[in-house]
Amino acid sequence: MNIVLIGFMGTGKTAVGKRLAQRLNRQYVDIDQLIEQQEKKKISDIFDEDGEPYFRKVEKGVTQRVSELENVVIAAGGGVVLDDQNISNLKRKGVLICLSARPEIILERTKKYNHRPLLNVADPTQEIAALLNKRAPDYAKADHQIDTSHLSIEEVVERVIAIIKEKR
Ligand code: S3P
Repeated sequence: MNIVLIGFMGTGKTAVGKRLAQRLNRQYVDIDQLIEQQEKKKISDIFDEDGEPYFRKVEKGVTQRVSELENVVIAAGGGVVLDDQNISNLKRKGVLICLSARPEIILERTKKYNHRPLLNVADPTQEIAALLNKRAPDYAKADHQIDTSHLSIEEVVERVIAIIKEKR
């Protein structure tokens, strides 16, 4: 069974995914990283030069491929859930765990970086609120939810491990 981490930008998918994979001695698979390797450019350059629809197309292909793996930890980009087929592909061999966080915490965690094209806007607070609102029904499709607002990476990892143990 794959463990698939979904959720909004800044909710901890990458940090938790890497740590979780170490703890469980599984391979860590990062969809955004695979997209950058395949396209040989940074995600922000793909958005700038090729546009978001192209990015989503590449993301869909990579998601389909990683969905076929077994017993890995997959960290998805925040927008993977926008496509229902991505969700059903990932669910076929995986349990979907959605990490969430309060909007002000997302802002704090993401404002230090500029590699997220969707948040490189004049008013990121407003953008985060709008996107969270629009995507809420998609994130709700996960099998489990963890609010990471007030948890350390290690605490989130523990919760994921507890969920996985319950399923056995
Ligand atoms: C996106 C999230 C990003 C990356 C791209 C689009 C989104 O991944 O895939 O910038 O639509 O939410 P992270 O959630 O890892 O930042």
